Amino acid sequence: MIEKICNLRDIALGKIKEAASGSEVEELRVKLLGKKGELTEMLKDLKNMALEERKQFGQEANELKNELSELLEVKFREISNNDVKKSLSKGSSFDISLPGTSFQVGSLHPVTIVQKEVERIFTGMGFNIVDGPEVEEEFFNFEALNIPKNHPARDMQDTYWLENGSLLRTHTSPCQVRAMQKYGAPLKVIAPGRCFRNESTDASHENTFFQLEGMMIDKNVSIANLIYVMKTLLSEIFKRDVKVRLRPGFFPFVEPGFELDLNCMICGGSGCPTCKHSGWIELLPCGMVHPNVLRAGGIDPEEYTGFAFGVGLTRLAMMKYGISDIRVLNSGDLRAMEQFSVR
Ligand code: DAH
Repeated sequence: MIEKICNLRDIALGKIKEAASGSEVEELRVKLLGKKGELTEMLKDLKNMALEERKQFGQEANELKNELSELLEVKFREISNNDVKKSLSKGSSFDISLPGTSFQVGSLHPVTIVQKEVERIFTGMGFNIVDGPEVEEEFFNFEALNIPKNHPARDMQDTYWLENGSLLRTHTSPCQVRAMQKYGAPLKVIAPGRCFRNESTDASHENTFFQLEGMMIDKNVSIANLIYVMKTLLSEIFKRDVKVRLRPGFFPFVEPGFELDLNCMICGGSGCPTCKHSGWIELLPCGMVHPNVLRAGGIDPEEYTGFAFGVGLTRLAMMKYGISDIRVLNSGDLRAMEQFSVR
């Protein structure tokens, strides 16, 4: 039997050496190692052999099988390489210096680019990124933020209500409460996301827009910390000195509350439809977290203080890229979107 294997090996090696094309190699592979191949047929005799012989024969046959499949593969690669070399040397139609066919590659939406940038800045300052649902409960969107039912502050945010009593969140502020309840104090989080309001649209208002909420809670956090973080954000985003103004602002969930306005970058402050002809854009409302909000989040206001802010991500993108009309951003118009080629 061993002799049979030796013979098969001699014949096979010769044939593999002689093979001249890929298809010949494949034919040989089937003939030698295929289901009905010569080696496979030989192995069928195993069952008639004595134990010792079977062991030896089995081992030799296996070794031959491995050897042959490796040789076949090497031969196949050799032939294919030669084929390519031949066609190149013929100087035929294959010009490797021709530029490839270009295809359309997508790009990130300007709001996404700005969001990623703000996330980078805040994670660098030790903030964590959290999330919240777009379909929100009334409690988180209003009550827990110190806006009880029938409070006039609800009128500032014209809300889409669902039939089941939930709503489309009007701001990212509910994420503050969810984060406090989940992680407790101390806390440093940001929460970017989509928000909805029943607005009539114009150059600076849309029914769907993006905000990024931020919150820091610890012992002895003060307005100085708030201003430092806001300044760091703006100087990193715009990479130059920007003109801002801080004025008192009313939001039920902060006390005191501020509006941080940015000198309009579309008109340079002289007044345009984007800034409602005021020269200023409300960009960063912020303040010290109201004790009632801390309580709703399960945090003791006697022990901890904190600040919070809500960046208008959509507005930030408009200012950064000089987009004068917010409606462009939701339009899906590729002519506009393709200009922002960061991937
Ligand atoms: N949620 C507010 C809005 O959409 C913005 C805001 C104001 C967020 C003050 C805050 C804050 O965190 O402290 O109008």
